[in-house]
Amino acid sequence: MDKPKVVLGVSGGIAAYKACELLRRLTESGHDVRVVPTQSALHFVGAATWSALSGHPVSTEVWTDVHEVPHVRIGQRADLVVVAPATTDLLAKAAHGLADDLLTNTLLTARCPVVFAPAMHTEMWEHPATRENVATLRRRGAVVIEPAVGRLTGADTGKGRLPDPAEIFETCRRVLARGVTGPDLAGRHVVVSAGGTREPLDPVRFLGNRSSGKQGYALARTAAARGARVTLIAANTAMPDPAGVDVVRVGTAVQLREAVLKAAPDADAVVMAAAVADFRPAQYATGKIKKKDGQEPEPIVLVRNPDILAEIAKDRAREGQVVVGFAAETDDVLANGRTKLRRKGCDLLVVNEVGERKTFGSEENEAVVLGADGSETPVPHGPKEALAEIVWDLVEHRLSRAAGSLESH
Ligand code: CTP
Repeated sequence: MDKPKVVLGVSGGIAAYKACELLRRLTESGHDVRVVPTQSALHFVGAATWSALSGHPVSTEVWTDVHEVPHVRIGQRADLVVVAPATTDLLAKAAHGLADDLLTNTLLTARCPVVFAPAMHTEMWEHPATRENVATLRRRGAVVIEPAVGRLTGADTGKGRLPDPAEIFETCRRVLARGVTGPDLAGRHVVVSAGGTREPLDPVRFLGNRSSGKQGYALARTAAARGARVTLIAANTAMPDPAGVDVVRVGTAVQLREAVLKAAPDADAVVMAAAVADFRPAQYATGKIKKKDGQEPEPIVLVRNPDILAEIAKDRAREGQVVVGFAAETDDVLANGRTKLRRKGCDLLVVNEVGERKTFGSEENEAVVLGADGSETPVPHGPKEALAEIVWDLVEHRLSRAAGSLESH
């Protein structure tokens, strides 16, 4: 089989050097990569580097090898175009259909999925001109990854950093795997909770659980790759922020509830993958609880935490919003799952069987997705990302069905 053909567009930002790592990851994982830098990108990384790393000639303009009609052919043949870094100028040109060099010509002739990984100063990213250009590109189906927050050029910090090349690579892999059907969640906002809450007992102890957050992160990553704007509410996770995802960090169930309720009104779908503690200590000791010689320890009194999933499912923030829960069961998995689905009032419930080495902390998962409409979708043992894709397929189906029924009214 032919290697998938990727065009790596590089525009003129200091983060161009990070695109070398993206290029290396793409070539080493079996992609045929053609690098198309802009003229200003070559101020940061020279043509020799791109050519040596990709094994292809490199040009910035349309007047080289004219007999091969590169300004048309490169885009036409591509299975994926990724622009990293995408400067504010490049985004503006792409949004307005300008074509004054090889990269902008390629963007107009490509009929494959296109991923932009912007990098710029915070002010530029937040400027209404850039916001509108990004919105235009997303509306047309491009995946525009949210920049990361952190150190920028010079002494500045803020939103605008190029996401980690490993994360951009993951997005590309996922977009390629979905083929040319395009990002079906473009224009959607989804909220995903991940990880496990911790309920503090005193300054050094907490009641927690073994959730790693991997399933929630897989959901966030796959949704971003399918074009969604993603808010990931992460409870005590130790993983790097996925590319293109807004991450809100929380600790306790009460904080998680607040963050979910804040993000939900604007969301097309809310997926509660976090393991939320059902109880919290009734009292928090401001000083460390000490053992006392000859005395039994004091019992810990617990109180109920709010059921966030049931609450958002009951008080839907908007019509047609899809609410998804997760359930970890050890016995009578399907029967317990059906009861829980009804009790929580959500549209979909992903039911996992938990046991030794199953689910918690593992890279893989096996589940059945139960629907409030009586549907049952078995998901065979496989990577957590495969389960995430199926969840989004089911969510997307419900969202487009709801949109269809609204239109027919
Ligand atoms: N959940 C929640 N708020 C809680 C507890 C759970 O939103 N206080 C959500 C979880 O994020 C998950 C789903 O509810 O999506 C299922 O959680 P689970 O703990 O299995 O449900 P419980 O109601 O606690 O049922 P059980 O006591 O039978 O385990």
